[in-house]
Amino acid sequence: MTVNILIVGAGAVGAFYASRLAQVPAVQVSVICRSNYQVVKANGFSVTSPQYGSFTFRPQQTFANPKEAVDSEIEWDYIVVSTKALPDVSDDSVILQGLVKGTHTAIVLIQNGLGVEEPYTKRFPSAVILSAVTIVSAAQTSHGVIKHNRWTRISIGPYLPASGSTSTTAAAAEEQIAIESNRNFVQLLQAGGIKDAEAYSSSKLQMVRWHKIAINASMNPSAVLSGGSTNNAMSTDPELYLHLKGVMEEVLSTAPKVLGTPLPKEFATSEAILRSTQRNASGSKPSMLLDWESGKTMELEVILGNPIRIAREKGLEMPRLQSLYALLRMAQENREAQKRSSKI
Ligand SMILES: NC(=O)c1ccc[n+]([C@@H]2O[C@H](COP(=O)([O-])OP(=O)(O)OC[C@H]3O[C@@H](n4cnc5c(N)ncnc54)[C@H](OP(=O)(O)O)[C@@H]3O)[C@@H](O)[C@H]2O)c1
Repeated sequence: MTVNILIVGAGAVGAFYASRLAQVPAVQVSVICRSNYQVVKANGFSVTSPQYGSFTFRPQQTFANPKEAVDSEIEWDYIVVSTKALPDVSDDSVILQGLVKGTHTAIVLIQNGLGVEEPYTKRFPSAVILSAVTIVSAAQTSHGVIKHNRWTRISIGPYLPASGSTSTTAAAAEEQIAIESNRNFVQLLQAGGIKDAEAYSSSKLQMVRWHKIAINASMNPSAVLSGGSTNNAMSTDPELYLHLKGVMEEVLSTAPKVLGTPLPKEFATSEAILRSTQRNASGSKPSMLLDWESGKTMELEVILGNPIRIAREKGLEMPRLQSLYALLRMAQENREAQKRSSKI
């Protein structure tokens, strides 16, 4: 039986995982494009990877917009959302309107940050939602050209925030559908060559999200506020090392209080993360810095704003994160205001 997968947000991450899923014989992968539509429609994606070599990935269908995907009348088994998570700019869950068919369609969110699932659970309360965290390093260097740099690991769990609080048979059956759907999606990725795709429980996946926030919320804003530093340069500067460690510790000590359970022992400590960053002299810049340098909106709300707000709801403050968030949000607002005034 054919598995139909639709990618919404066919940029670096979306097109990379799509290109692996498309290797599985029973899978047909289609994409909704935006600015890269003409190139992808004509030539597909050209992918280079140290692990999988150079190859062309031609989607089954390349749609110019969501309406074309609705008009195709394909019943999607999975809709993968891998747009940048920018709730302050747009609610991307609206793109899925008319594409989600009850519990038949699972929505897979491959995005950084916390709280990214909320708009989707609100709009599609009965849909299966799978939440995914990846450490892949990839970029779309020009339209339709995907450069996979390193790493492939992706951790995926069903999003079941009310799990345990309801005990009806219907709720238990819905949870079981989500768990199976999650397992099946992970198996498809593994069959496509992503050997370290891993299925997680709903609660453990949220721990993975918080752990990744420790890295993203420390490195990303600091790279911008320090005037364009690489992760490696920050980790080898003595004062910035202390700053990064302080932010990571703040997140890693708040997460267990919010989640009500300690983070697993196997998760890397702040020292281990920083040691590995010191060893990695590739000079890579975090995504927020790349977005800032190219004048794009940064993922500030899901990486800084939401963790601060989620902690606050439990009466907890994260002062280091709060300072980074307040400064960077204002820097972004000022830049947008300057752009507007220079257009007048
Ligand atoms: N890149 C990485 O190495 C990496 C690693 C780990 C996690 N992540 C996370 O993964 C997520 C995706 O990041 P990314 O690097 O793949 O971003 P990206 O390369 O910018 O890709 C996002 C894609 O979504 C498209 N898009 C946005 N809104 C759309 C809409 N309304 N309709 C159709 N297409 C739309 C964009 O089109 P346009 O080009 O027209 O804007 C772009 O092609 C982010 O949350 C990021 O933090 C990225």
